[in-house]
Amino acid sequence: MERIIIFDTTLRDGEQAPGCSMTLEEKVRVAQQLERLNVDVIEAGFPIASPGDFESVRQVSRSVSKPTVAALARCVEADIDRAGEALEGAEKGRIHVFLATSKIHREHKLKKGRAEIIKLATDGIRRALSYRTDVEFSPEDASRTEPEFLREVVEAAIDAGATTINIPDTVGYAVPAQFAELIEMLISKVGNIERAVISVHCHDDLGMAVANSLAAVKAGARQVECTVNGLGERAGNCSLEEVVMGIATRRDFFGVETDINTRQIMNASRLVSTVTGVQVPPNKAVVGRNAFAHEAGVHQDGILKKKSTYEIMRPEDIGLASGHLVLGKHSGRHAFRTRLEELGIHLDERHLDHAFDEFKRLADKKKEIYDEDIEALVREEVEEVPEIFKLVGLHTTSGMDVTPTATVSVDVAEEGVKTDAAIGDGPIDAVYRAIDRITGIRCELRDYSIHAITGGKDAMGEVALEIASNGFSERGRAARTDIIEASALAYVAAVNRLVKRMRNGAQPEEKLHGM
Ligand code: KIV
Ligand code: ZN
Repeated sequence: MERIIIFDTTLRDGEQAPGCSMTLEEKVRVAQQLERLNVDVIEAGFPIASPGDFESVRQVSRSVSKPTVAALARCVEADIDRAGEALEGAEKGRIHVFLATSKIHREHKLKKGRAEIIKLATDGIRRALSYRTDVEFSPEDASRTEPEFLREVVEAAIDAGATTINIPDTVGYAVPAQFAELIEMLISKVGNIERAVISVHCHDDLGMAVANSLAAVKAGARQVECTVNGLGERAGNCSLEEVVMGIATRRDFFGVETDINTRQIMNASRLVSTVTGVQVPPNKAVVGRNAFAHEAGVHQDGILKKKSTYEIMRPEDIGLASGHLVLGKHSGRHAFRTRLEELGIHLDERHLDHAFDEFKRLADKKKEIYDEDIEALVREEVEEVPEIFKLVGLHTTSGMDVTPTATVSVDVAEEGVKTDAAIGDGPIDAVYRAIDRITGIRCELRDYSIHAITGGKDAMGEVALEIASNGFSERGRAARTDIIEASALAYVAAVNRLVKRMRNGAQPEEKLHGM
């Protein structure tokens, strides 16, 4: 059976989405999980865009050995040189150059004619080849490019040496039948097409990214670009888990396969949701909480008689243990460690001890502990937040007809415990004002979200937030059964990161968005 190359761009296109930024350490963890998932290519960043993206490509290149690591570049010398440099440590590296080809982009964004576009693209590909033999070219906005011109660009790109030609539906405009026709046209009309792999990269603006990618596969595309949980610019990209399970579940129709270890899908989905703070909707195909939940009586009856009456995929195929309940009050350290490993979380002894203590504390408050609870617990361990400020005391009052008030105590490194109080619009506002008074750093709260990690009144609430001060922004996250405590801990974690970056002399980051 022919194999489809899975090119994951969670760390590049996914991370480009608002509110999805990841720290370097988080990107490396995601890359290692993508390696366990067995993706073929990891696009780790756009090195010229920011020092953070450059470092991401560099570190990911050194942290994984099996997948190819790709770096994005415009067809501009400085971009390509930076991508080549970032990939130096990669065993298998790919430079992915792109240039818009559609009339609207040529005339309004690039202000260049067709001949100039072909020259820029081919010069870019040749320069990329001076660094790596594996070069991918993307004619950006391909689905809105005049088909005859697209054919000409693709042929020239392959002649120049591109080994993968990626056809992006940059603005999510394509529909499956038409997109499949475009791929068929390229396969039949591009004279040298057999010298390159055809790839597709679909966005989800009309909710058709997965359908368009699958239609392209049926038409002959052999690489799919996708992201975990479908993250990405605007409405996102083709979702990895959906396209992979689509190909696996309907092998009868597509007649192709991927090398993905589908049992690692749930771990990848949870990890990406954790590090980005973007929740997976409960009804999301494949990885949503309800994807395998059967509510209707008639369905439950069928499932009990024969699972395949209403189940087209088995939960265990995506790494979902049957039944979510994992551990309780009486579980020991060994069971805790085993479950962590099953979840793809590897802690050293020191972090394991601390996480186990937290687990026991939680088990005293919460009867049933689920995978999601365990992940939230160890998240704070793995994140390695510097502890310049440590929350040691918290008291709030609020209610109807009461001015919300908070008294907060923070242990400040080398200064000792400081206590201050503030009033606010609500108890959380009051807590944040009191923390600002203690730290002496006035922070703007840019984003704040809270969700219950599991169902039940005793569920832990997880707070994810972003703060900004002096041109820097940082994120923080914490989960507790007390949501005000979680809010305070998340805020202090973000302040600690902010201070660490400022002390390290980092420059406020301006990321390049003009593509
Ligand atoms: O959507 C797009 O066109 C892209 C390209 C850089 C491949 O992300
Ligand atoms: Zn894209």
